[in-house]
Amino acid sequence: MKKEVRKVVIAGNWKMNMTPSAAVEAVKETAKLTDGKTGCEVVLCVPFVDIAPAADAAKGTNVKIGAQNVHFEKKGAFTGEISADMLLEAGAEYVIVGHRERRQYFGETDETVNKRARAALAAGLKVILCLGEVLEQRQAGITDEIVSMQTKLDLSGITAEEMKNVIIAYEPVWAIGTGLTATPEQADEVCGVIRKVIAGLYGGDVAESTVIQYGGSMNDGNADDLLAKVNVDGGLIGGASLVPEKFARIVDAAQK
Ligand code: PGA
Repeated sequence: MKKEVRKVVIAGNWKMNMTPSAAVEAVKETAKLTDGKTGCEVVLCVPFVDIAPAADAAKGTNVKIGAQNVHFEKKGAFTGEISADMLLEAGAEYVIVGHRERRQYFGETDETVNKRARAALAAGLKVILCLGEVLEQRQAGITDEIVSMQTKLDLSGITAEEMKNVIIAYEPVWAIGTGLTATPEQADEVCGVIRKVIAGLYGGDVAESTVIQYGGSMNDGNADDLLAKVNVDGGLIGGASLVPEKFARIVDAAQK
């Protein structure tokens, strides 16, 4: 079912890595290595200052550029923040919202994540909305409840039409940057739970067409098995996205 109705999206999350000059080189290399690999969408979410040069380097290639955060107000006295219009004009097509590191280190809540997502969608950006349980929640057997709640809160007020531009990234917190990966079965199961919640909110058609990625130590060694699962429509990749060869191998895995 999945591949007929949903395009796989492989997105890199560079986090706070790569200066603008390094970014240009990495984008060019990634573009070269993923040239003609049209079986998935290829996205690199880069630091704010890298967006314009990265978008320039990506012009005419397979690679799309995204940001890693966005503010919910259009403009004003919000020192250090960046608006959706600024991202668009700099060349970003995508933006990550609600990444675990934002929630953990910068006080993001489901409420602010939702506001950021809505502002980004209203401006015309595609949103990669991250959610997932922490280890204690998995151990307590409440993963499904946690991700269901996050899905509902984070999508609050987002219309069925806007859902065309929403990607959900299921990222179990215990798997991010730790080398621990959810098993393909665990990833598939929770992505399936999220899809059911979306069906409840928007109906079956929207649920079937929504791209749900897995993220958390996905790499060139485990991508094949994760991406083979029916509910896993791609990946949000941190560490491995910094090495174009590794990232390109994940893109290869998504071509099947
Ligand atoms: P990781 O990061 O692939 O390094 O675990 C994933 C993410 O944080 O999006």
